[in-house]
Amino acid sequence: MSEQDPEVGHLFGSTAAWALDDDVVHTNHGSFGGITTATLEAVEAARRDVAANPMRGYDREWFDHHARAVAAVAGLVGARPEDTTLVPNATVGMDVALRVLPWDPDTTIVCTDVAYPSVAANLVRRAAATGATIEVLATDPAIPEALPTMVAAALDRVGQDGPTGVVVDQFVSATATPLPVHDVVAAAHARGAVVVVDGAHVPGQVAPDRADVGADAWTGNLHKWACAPPALAALVVAERHHDRLGSVVSSWFDDEPFPGNSRWQGTVDPGPVLVAEQVVAQAVAILARADELEARARAGAEAVAEAVGGEVLPGAGWMRAVVLPDSAGPADDAGRRAIERGLWTRGIEAKVTPDHGRLVLRISTHAYTSDRDHDRLADVLGRQLGDA
Ligand SMILES: Cc1ncc(COP(=O)(O)O)c(C=O)c1O
Repeated sequence: MSEQDPEVGHLFGSTAAWALDDDVVHTNHGSFGGITTATLEAVEAARRDVAANPMRGYDREWFDHHARAVAAVAGLVGARPEDTTLVPNATVGMDVALRVLPWDPDTTIVCTDVAYPSVAANLVRRAAATGATIEVLATDPAIPEALPTMVAAALDRVGQDGPTGVVVDQFVSATATPLPVHDVVAAAHARGAVVVVDGAHVPGQVAPDRADVGADAWTGNLHKWACAPPALAALVVAERHHDRLGSVVSSWFDDEPFPGNSRWQGTVDPGPVLVAEQVVAQAVAILARADELEARARAGAEAVAEAVGGEVLPGAGWMRAVVLPDSAGPADDAGRRAIERGLWTRGIEAKVTPDHGRLVLRISTHAYTSDRDHDRLADVLGRQLGDA
């Protein structure tokens, strides 16, 4: 920890220093995050400050605040500030990032069957508008290491027909599976393909020196693992695409190159940008204890799997997924809602997703998570499924 890093010991082991409800066991940080009381107070103060004088806040001070936020966020994700801008979330980030792909009738875009649903929908929409072909690779969550070879084989097959692109997630949403994205990028670039990476779960969970995967365009949320107030995400685009990209949304600086053209995206909630430096400093200090969180995540998943007769999927970082036994119910939306309802009515917020014909429970561990939380999840879910 450097001298500037904030003291974060009080953020560990309970939700006392978090805005989260202490009466609830929060095991789904991965979907919407959760913020500390320090960040909540900072963002409320920032909003009050701008509300007190909007002309000062937006017209005179915004660009300086925005530049400082970009520098801090770029540092957290191992990117150059000159390639980075801020967007509200990964949904918007991917929408912009996908523009770097070669969208033409003779183009093939290779993606996986575990792409985040909004990104998959975006690919389908773009393919319909341009005539490009989408090639979906069927993945196996148990063997993520097979992906680079699968991508290479697909590109070798379709690359004769025209330009190619690849879209891949760094952590699969439903199963928390870390995909070998460095190797996918290397295989794709060796074949002349443009690569877009969805790193929604990366900022704050992956150390800055490991976050950059060399993609053509990349996005990642800060309101998940970096505990920013919703909504804040990084968008990083390699310099070779800046001229063609345009701005995040057409606005006052459209005639400038990326990313300067995106420093104004219309009037937005100033809070997340104004507290970005506080958020990043806090996230870096928490990351210094990443190994401890990973060990807790692993142990928690094993305890839950044992209690319910499930199987822990391969994982890394602060999330793990447990495949629930078939007896847990139908692997559909009704099935997942029934399990989540059984848990939240007993004070546990959890995330269950139908995936590859099974129900998967994704368990998040953050600084506030205690072994007690995992024991309670294991106990309650074990009894719930036992009674079913
Ligand atoms: C892999 C992945 N991509 C994109 C998103 C979308 O994030 P947001 O809702 O913040 O836009 C998520 C959210 O969980 C995700 O897991």
